[in-house]
Amino acid sequence: MPHTQSDPYLPQPARILRVIGENSQIKTFVLAFTDPAVNASFRYQPGQFLMVSVPHCGEAPISISSAQQATPGEIHLSVRRAGKLTSAMHLLAEGAIIALRGPYGRFFPMSDLCGKNLLFVGGGIGLAPLRAVIQSCLADRGRFGAITILYGSRTPSDIAFRADLACWEQEAGVQCLLTVDTPEPGWSGAVGVVPKLLDQVALDPAASKALVCGPPLMIKFTLAALSAKGFADQDIITTLERHMKCGVGLCRHCHLDNKLVCVDGPVFTKAELNTLHVMELA
Ligand SMILES: Cc1cc2nc3c(=O)[nH]c(=O)nc-3n(C[C@H](O)[C@H](O)[C@H](O)COP(=O)(O)OP(=O)(O)OC[C@H]3O[C@@H](n4cnc5c(N)ncnc54)[C@H](O)[C@@H]3O)c2cc1C
Ligand code: FES
Repeated sequence: MPHTQSDPYLPQPARILRVIGENSQIKTFVLAFTDPAVNASFRYQPGQFLMVSVPHCGEAPISISSAQQATPGEIHLSVRRAGKLTSAMHLLAEGAIIALRGPYGRFFPMSDLCGKNLLFVGGGIGLAPLRAVIQSCLADRGRFGAITILYGSRTPSDIAFRADLACWEQEAGVQCLLTVDTPEPGWSGAVGVVPKLLDQVALDPAASKALVCGPPLMIKFTLAALSAKGFADQDIITTLERHMKCGVGLCRHCHLDNKLVCVDGPVFTKAELNTLHVMELA
């Protein structure tokens, strides 16, 4: 009997259809399952991740960086070269086969975002899971208020997702602001950490939800800055990273107090994080 999406524990082969170079460290892989039936039945939500493997190179969790409605029949994974698996992926080209299992994890609460102004704050590869939410919102534009995207990179050369950012800022009611830690010749944009951009945008915290994803220090300071601006803790949503093995709540490798990031997260509200001891955000 052919295996289908109804068996999310089983790795399924997927073919790389295209590779988009985002910067020197990040590539977006556009994939489709080799089995057309699996590809047609695959369903996921923004914020969920896949366990990705390359033979002999290990397995790692990677967020899906596309929205189902925006890229039907395709799965996008935006991958920063970090270690064994991700370096092996960066060597792969169009046509190569990798294995995917999932989708796993708690997704962004899309229904809670309806009718709200949305503030996305991303740093580096952290824009990947937010990209899935942004694509989803833009595919159903009328259901959401103003969209503000704040994105920080180390240098102008490190700015990833340039093509997406250029498209998004053409959309009605969408504002994109970029900042870099260290400027390079020719850069005339903002310099400084991402939370500083919050001072440059009009915010209405009571009518908004903030979605934050990036390196731990960026998340820590952004969450504090959003609270200082008047955002309620349940209106601030972020994602956590932990090293994972099983991805499905069995091995406890990803534990965080009494939670397992792979099944209770990776998406958490600040209100939820307040009840946990999150070392990197303390
Ligand atoms: C839910 C989730 C979603 C993610 N989404 C993305 C994404 O969209 N894109 C992306 O690029 N990355 C993403 N990541 C991060 C990615 O899974 C990690 O960077 C992963 O370690 C890469 O695997 P690797 O084999 O390439 O690197 P590894 O070989 O695992 O090495 C990565 C780094 O971790 C260190 N390390 C390895 N094992 C351990 C350990 N047991 N304890 C402590 N440190 C260790 C290594 O020294 C190295 O610095 C996500 C992680 C999670 C949890
Ligand atoms: S990775 Fe195994 S329990 Fe979370």
